[in-house]
Amino acid sequence: MTREAIVGLKELSKEPYASMLCYPKPSKAEVNKRLRELAKLGIDAFEFVGEKQVSNLNILGKGCVGLVVLAFRGSERAALKIRRVDADRARMQHEAELLERANSVGVGPRLLVASRNCLLMQFVDGCLLPEWLRECRGKTRIRKVLHELLVQCRRLDEIGLDHGELSHAPKHVLVDRADRPFIVDFESASVNRRPANVTSICQFLFIGGEVSKGITHKLGKINRNSLLDALRVYKTDRTRESFGRVLEACGL
Ligand SMILES: Nc1ncnc2c1ncn2[C@@H]1O[C@H](COP(=O)(O)OP(=O)(O)OP(=O)(O)O)[C@@H](O)[C@H]1O
Ligand SMILES: [Mg+2]
Repeated sequence: MTREAIVGLKELSKEPYASMLCYPKPSKAEVNKRLRELAKLGIDAFEFVGEKQVSNLNILGKGCVGLVVLAFRGSERAALKIRRVDADRARMQHEAELLERANSVGVGPRLLVASRNCLLMQFVDGCLLPEWLRECRGKTRIRKVLHELLVQCRRLDEIGLDHGELSHAPKHVLVDRADRPFIVDFESASVNRRPANVTSICQFLFIGGEVSKGITHKLGKINRNSLLDALRVYKTDRTRESFGRVLEACGL
């Protein structure tokens, strides 16, 4: 990490930083408003590192709702999701509330603080699951991470919180350097739908798409019909036993 990658709050009103604060279209008034918001949250600086690039700046992630950038609050490093000015959400508080619920069962990066345009959370120092899977060779390590991921989905099912985007989640599961999986992005989550986290993540990991092919390649074939049967039962009774059968059918 170079010193130049760290930029204090005062500098952020200038380009190219202003464009990042108010992506994709900055206005002076909005930039100033957001700088005041950041100061109120106690954020002192940004560190431009990460795999994504916006205006030639490295950041942690970019989606339709926000840009995620590494931020400092005092000496603490955290991930800051900044609402895009063209996002289809007017505020971040709803996502913060749902993340907090997920946190109550040990799921998701820990929520630190949120405001209208910002959500500050625990920084997950790692990479997205597909990339982690590509680089990881140990079968035991892979099984451990996938097992933990399913257990987290089960806990979300139990509290009635449906993430909503786990059936195709190439960008919504991160794995940190200690092999801990983190489900991110609760902006499409809901407590008003029937939760389908376990079935969705199984679909993503073992049934359809590129990631499931990669997992089959690394861990060997599973019996697809047994998994579909186990999921059908789990969906109707949601008992511990039927969740156990799902794990078994996944080879976990
Ligand atoms: N706590 C975190 N620590 C590290 N990186 C993160 C964290 N949260 C999110 N990211 C990165 O930022 C990316 C975008 O985050 P997120 O999915 O929350 O944004 P979004 O705008 O809602 O995206 P999408 O349009 O895909 O739903 C993630 O895919 C991930 O790579
Ligand atoms: Mg999103």
